[in-house]
Amino acid sequence: MKDAKSVPVHVAIIMDGNGRWAQKRGLPRTEGHRAGVKTVKKIVKTASDNGIKYLTLYAFSTENWKRSKEEVNFLLNLFAEVLKDYLNELRDNNVKLKFIGDIQGLPYFLRKVLEYSENATKKDTGLVLNIAINYGGRREIVQAVKRICREKIRDINEENFSDYLYTAGQPDPDIIIRTSGEMRLSNFLLYQSSYSELFFTDTLWPDFTEEEFLKIIEEFGKRKRKFGGV
Ligand code: FPP
Repeated sequence: MKDAKSVPVHVAIIMDGNGRWAQKRGLPRTEGHRAGVKTVKKIVKTASDNGIKYLTLYAFSTENWKRSKEEVNFLLNLFAEVLKDYLNELRDNNVKLKFIGDIQGLPYFLRKVLEYSENATKKDTGLVLNIAINYGGRREIVQAVKRICREKIRDINEENFSDYLYTAGQPDPDIIIRTSGEMRLSNFLLYQSSYSELFFTDTLWPDFTEEEFLKIIEEFGKRKRKFGGV
């Protein structure tokens, strides 16, 4: 990238619009998710090639269980299938995988795949790819509070509270992107997003391109961040 100073350290994405992409083409919603996987691969590569250090992708929220049983099952199977298939490519690109969310609430077969792929990439030193699965920002905060109480930790402040979140040890996202024209955070990174720059695009996730991603990164470089100062 031209101006290295403007490269964000952490980019987070709400990948929205797979269902509408499929419906527009008269296809079942599940085909939209399959098409969405292709975009995931392109954006991971672009982030990695451009020196972004952390990329967080919202794949499945704590609210997504409300979808039809067929769609939920399809998504959980798709995550397992894609991860198995994609692992070698991730390792070749030195990408370190981390799954954030209420992982214990996922079926055993998927937990095993997540555990295996996290383990397989734990020594990788390139892009950290956080995949949010069964993730909810409120649940994350409540789980942190419960742990703090259980461990009877008294000295809690705004900085060290982050150590109890799923993203412990990582910087907060500089940018949060949401595709498909919706303008909400939908329970994503509630504590971590306090000073994130928000970008919304009408593009549906399967149509989101490397070019549009890089344009957002460039636009970020032009925004003035004040963090509450003047
Ligand atoms: C939102 O679109 C998308 C999801 C809930 C699933 C996202 C999952 C993928 C792109 C697969 C990623 C795979 C890995 C391994 C990270 P939507 O279904 O809510 O679309 P709609 O709003 O148009 O209905």
